[in-house]
Amino acid sequence: MAGLKGQREHLPRRGEMSDWQLYRRLLRYVVPYWYLFAFSLVGYIIYSLGNVALADLMQFLLDALADNPAVENGIVATASMAIYPPGDMSRQEYARIAVPAAMVSLALIRSIGFFAGTYFITCVARHLVHELRCELFEKMLYAPGNYYDANSGGVLISRITYNVEQVTGAATNALKIILREGLTVIALLSYMLYLNWRLSLVFFAVAPFIAIVVTVVGKHFRRYSRRIQSSMGDVTQVANESIGAYREVRMYGGQKRQRDRFGNASHYNRVQSIKLAFADAMSTPVIQTLLALALGTLVWFALDPTILGGFSAGSLVAFLTAAGQLGKPIRQLSGVQSVIQRGLAAAEDIFAQFDLDAEKDKGAHIVERARGDLRFDNVSFQYPGTDKWVLKNFSLDLPAGRSVALVGRSGSGKTTLVHLLTRFYETTEGDLLLDGVPVQDYTLDNYRSQLALVSQKVTLFQDTVAHNIAYGALSGASQQDIVSAAHAASADRFIDQLPDGYDTVLGEDGGGLSGGQRQRVAIARAILKDAPVLILDEATSALDNESEHQIQRALETVMAGRTTLIIAHRLSTIEKADHIVVMDEGEIVAQGSHQELLAGGGLYAQLYHQAFND
Ligand SMILES: Nc1ncnc2c1ncn2[C@@H]1O[C@H](COP(=O)(O)OP(=O)(O)OP(=O)(O)O)[C@@H](O)[C@H]1O
Ligand SMILES: [Mg+2]
Repeated sequence: MAGLKGQREHLPRRGEMSDWQLYRRLLRYVVPYWYLFAFSLVGYIIYSLGNVALADLMQFLLDALADNPAVENGIVATASMAIYPPGDMSRQEYARIAVPAAMVSLALIRSIGFFAGTYFITCVARHLVHELRCELFEKMLYAPGNYYDANSGGVLISRITYNVEQVTGAATNALKIILREGLTVIALLSYMLYLNWRLSLVFFAVAPFIAIVVTVVGKHFRRYSRRIQSSMGDVTQVANESIGAYREVRMYGGQKRQRDRFGNASHYNRVQSIKLAFADAMSTPVIQTLLALALGTLVWFALDPTILGGFSAGSLVAFLTAAGQLGKPIRQLSGVQSVIQRGLAAAEDIFAQFDLDAEKDKGAHIVERARGDLRFDNVSFQYPGTDKWVLKNFSLDLPAGRSVALVGRSGSGKTTLVHLLTRFYETTEGDLLLDGVPVQDYTLDNYRSQLALVSQKVTLFQDTVAHNIAYGALSGASQQDIVSAAHAASADRFIDQLPDGYDTVLGEDGGGLSGGQRQRVAIARAILKDAPVLILDEATSALDNESEHQIQRALETVMAGRTTLIIAHRLSTIEKADHIVVMDEGEIVAQGSHQELLAGGGLYAQLYHQAFND
């Protein structure tokens, strides 16, 4: 379980937000739809008044039967007599017509109220959920690089699917119940106060006890809900990982390990869910017992002759009917707690995301097309949250239009340089300049549009080959440009052999293509971008010698007039670069042309001869 705990600590949590803060923030999303909310409110007010009127109808019926003049004290009876005067009918004759008519029309009005209340509040809730989900997704699109280091993919996905769904539950069902049953409780209590305020006090005497139960249980709900939610993230993560790595899992007999991790996450989830269910199942009977006590006491007092004196039988029954009717809404209101607490726990997590800073984009500088002069000026770098210096006092010029190659052992910091160049991280110390301007002074969009990157880990999208080459801002490219980019990347031949050529839809992450084919699509994408700076991080590592030479020849034309940074393990790839830089442990250990470096011996010569002997 230690592992799971560790993962959970990545959840951003800036102190816990109070319920009130959460409600206020949620309410902000509802404000634009206040008119829908108002329709719903009116609907539910009509509904709850309908409930009271139906209790009051008991008084009409019973007192009319007993031929008691107290009939005229009833609300429904008074209204009915105003609308349809009884004339010289007896009380019973009048009731025979008026009570059924009132029953039907009240039920009808109540139904209309119910419809309007339910329908309009659901509209509001759905708007809320949609906006939360989109905002969360938007946050992910602009989150800084270390956000993705700290959160596993599964946890992030679970946030968009599971957590948002919890808010939905709270927003739709719970909101409906709160509004509907809350108004009903208020209406019934007011009616009881109107009939006999002293008797009603009995009910108010148990209210604090109910409030205590609801608060105590609510706190537990919240705690369990948070745990359930983060364990859902763990469940998704392990499942996701096992699906993505199914080959490794089987080849290395990892089923047991994956099963255990999944089992642990799911077990934890189950235990917390059961605790939640326990608290949920406990609270309703406790509240019901409290209500029964109140009702019993009520009847005891009500039958006291001194009190009974001022009461018609009809009013007493109407009073008890209203009191009895209170049970259902109060039960429902307390039962809705678990849903609300789950929703609040989810909202808390989602809002914590909203409060995270986006990628730093403070610059205002914009250039149409940069010359492509890049300079690392004494750059040192640590990944955020670590204390290892991955780059140390790194200074390097990448003059406009020239090509520089970077070699060095695995882990020496080459890809890290690319992360800095692409502004996924900021330098810890020192400056990185494009055309003499610090990179952070450019707007992110403008800066990144100056760079074309083929990264070490190729990523393709589930889309056609053509759309994969002309991706994002390039989507307006003509078919002709796409084909010539593919040609320059030696990708045209295999693309023509695909079932639908450029319109072939690739599987998830380029499924259906070989490693080398995927790299060539990625190179075509970078070529089509036609940016002044081209960065190739192990771009041809998956290709055979012949294809690599082919691409190299094609790339020579592409590289002309562009600043190019080539990172490669295979030294044959970089022999022709204008300048070669040898890195080790985040520092430059030698630089020069291929011949100079070879003559100088050192790490380069060592790497070269090793490759030659292989
Ligand atoms: N996101 C990260 N968080 C923390 N440390 C990292 C991160 N990415 C890389 N590192 C560390 O930074 C160092 C340099 O990694 P980098 O990926 O730059 O190496 P590289 O030279 O590209 O290696 P290779 O040739 O294998 O691709 C490594 O020690 C690695 O452990
Ligand atoms: Mg690398």
